Amino acid sequence: MSKFIMAQENARIISGEDKIFGINKKAQEMIASVGRDKVANATIGSLLDDSGNLVVLSSVVEVLKGLQPVDYAEYAPITGVPSFLQAAIKAVYMDHVPSCNIEAIATPGGTGAIHNTIQNYTKRGDTILTSDWYWSPYNTIAQEIERKLETYPLFDENFKFNHKGFSDKVRELLSREDRLVIIINTPAHNPTGYSLTLEDWDHVLALLKAEAEDKTKKIVLLVDAAYLDFAGDAKEFREFLPKLENLPDNLLPLIAYSMSKSFTLYGMRGGALICLSPNKAITDEFKMVNAFTNRGTWSNGTRCAMVALSRIFESKSLFDTVVSEREEALQLLLRRGTAFMKAAEKAGLVTCPFTLGFFAIVPCDQCDAVGEELQKDGIFTVPFGGRGLRVSVASISEEWCSILPAKMAAAIKKVNG
Ligand SMILES: Cc1ncc(COP(=O)(O)O)c(C=O)c1O
Repeated sequence: MSKFIMAQENARIISGEDKIFGINKKAQEMIASVGRDKVANATIGSLLDDSGNLVVLSSVVEVLKGLQPVDYAEYAPITGVPSFLQAAIKAVYMDHVPSCNIEAIATPGGTGAIHNTIQNYTKRGDTILTSDWYWSPYNTIAQEIERKLETYPLFDENFKFNHKGFSDKVRELLSREDRLVIIINTPAHNPTGYSLTLEDWDHVLALLKAEAEDKTKKIVLLVDAAYLDFAGDAKEFREFLPKLENLPDNLLPLIAYSMSKSFTLYGMRGGALICLSPNKAITDEFKMVNAFTNRGTWSNGTRCAMVALSRIFESKSLFDTVVSEREEALQLLLRRGTAFMKAAEKAGLVTCPFTLGFFAIVPCDQCDAVGEELQKDGIFTVPFGGRGLRVSVASISEEWCSILPAKMAAAIKKVNG
């Protein structure tokens, strides 16, 4: 019998519980009773300052304030404001101009870009592939449109990218289905903070090119670049991008771009899906099918977010101001990540490989119990996938970042012996 009264579950698993929300609520209650400085709320997926307030780039807010009423009120074109699409491509590629056809379509955040990819490049019932540590909405999005998610192990026993695990899973899925969408979230992967190295990319692409020699297969590689501007040096972490140019026609790279972190506009739902192909018919088709999906889901995106990005990219001085303000936010994150990792090493706490990101992962058994143990000390983390604790270094101070690892090591020892 259905557990719903009026609603239909439609092959989705809808539990109604939001674990993160629940833990966050507990943290807020503790803050109210003992004070903010006694609580580390490392559950939140946004960059907060040391007082717990959202970091908002004031230069971006100024751009918004300077927009005209029509920039807020008017519909955007279904595919997005043209100058925004150019700006989104520039935001990803900076000064590099890809040597192949490139198209973009506006989406509500990176989430919309992920949805569009799954909708347009797989069929109902197909399997989407991502790593075993993954941002859980991938699964929600896949289920919502009647697809399934399977995973490969992200790390091997030496905590390096698991090339064998990746290859085995890609081959297995391509032996079952002729289509495959693979989602790779890099740089600054959520939830581990790992960024694929250039060597990792060479392995990944060599495998996919070999698989694409079978022309009956259609492989789509979605790079979820939500944290592109919070990974470290902007140029260094974009060095992999030219590797995605001029791949075989049946190996299509797409990039999910998001304004949420890069411009601290989480709520404005600005994003884009970018497509690269040596074959113009494929990029034209991309535009056509994604326009259809936009129309059939959210229609058009948030015009003022699009206009704001256009303005930022139209003015060199404005762009420089935003980038230098963002650099300060990046340095804040970097100091916290470094403090956490240094303290982890000192405390002998094992973490997943971390270059930088909003989150770090501490693998451990009985993570729910360890998480509860930590809460007694005012430390709130998120048990993740039943095999680790996710720590948001983005939402706690540098001081807390250096305190947490020893406390976590002690809690793991207490619970697991
Ligand atoms: C891994 C990952 N991908 C994509 C997104 C998309 O975010 P948005 O839809 O706000 O752009 C997020 C946001 O937290 C994320 O963590």
